[in-house]
Amino acid sequence: MQCLLQSQALLQYMLDTSVYPREHEQLKALREETMKHSRFYMIVPPEEGQFLSMLLKLMNAKKTIEIGVFTGYSLLTTALALPEDGKIMAIDIDKSNYEIGRQYIQKAGVEHKIQFIESQALPVLDKLIKELKEEELFDFAFVDADKVNYSNYHERVIKLVRIGGLIVYDNTLWGGSVVGPVKPQFPGPFEEARDSIMRLNNELASDHRIEMSQVCIGDGITICRRIK
Ligand SMILES: C[S@@+](CC[C@H](N)C(=O)[O-])C[C@H]1O[C@@H](n2cnc3c(N)ncnc32)[C@H](O)[C@@H]1O
Repeated sequence: MQCLLQSQALLQYMLDTSVYPREHEQLKALREETMKHSRFYMIVPPEEGQFLSMLLKLMNAKKTIEIGVFTGYSLLTTALALPEDGKIMAIDIDKSNYEIGRQYIQKAGVEHKIQFIESQALPVLDKLIKELKEEELFDFAFVDADKVNYSNYHERVIKLVRIGGLIVYDNTLWGGSVVGPVKPQFPGPFEEARDSIMRLNNELASDHRIEMSQVCIGDGITICRRIK
């Protein structure tokens, strides 16, 4: 769980004052369960979840796609924000972590909104591009999986989200390392991911098919609104 806010006390204040008191009981339970996982840090932080929920409700999203589910915190957040007949296509290469979160999704009464696909994301996206009709495009996409493919995801997801729809990329400030040297304790894959995220950030900045906003919440998210 990444947070770029420089003051831990300020983050705690935010969480205690505005986030935890309003967090759905099943989201809280799922978050607490996920904290026992060896890769707990992959979870979307609750203040970011609250922000995503606000975005989804503001735009009246009904049909969304999520790449990177893990135990399902962002997925359950989305499912709770969508209307009763909302639909989420959720893709992850590993279903075992989703199974950990599934009981909380069931208890929250929103499992019927979710279609989980256990697969590499790219082939699923390519298939959707071939099959989806204009009127079937998604309102919203959340991308939070293998960072080295972020540019590849963007080239596909932009075709799958309707004009006026949103794409949100997670971790676009990558622990602050986009402006600093990679921490020595994080060599290899961390650095590769950082380079890929920086490439995406540059590509988004000059992409005329979208409007965008880089938001400093969690580990940094980039909101893209498709306009072409
Ligand atoms: C950062 S976690 C997602 C966190 C999640 N959004 C949450 O709120 O807890 C990234 C997930 O992406 C999945 N993943 C990694 N590479 C993938 C790929 N090529 N295609 C689909 N999923 C992938 C991993 O299995 C992992 O569960």
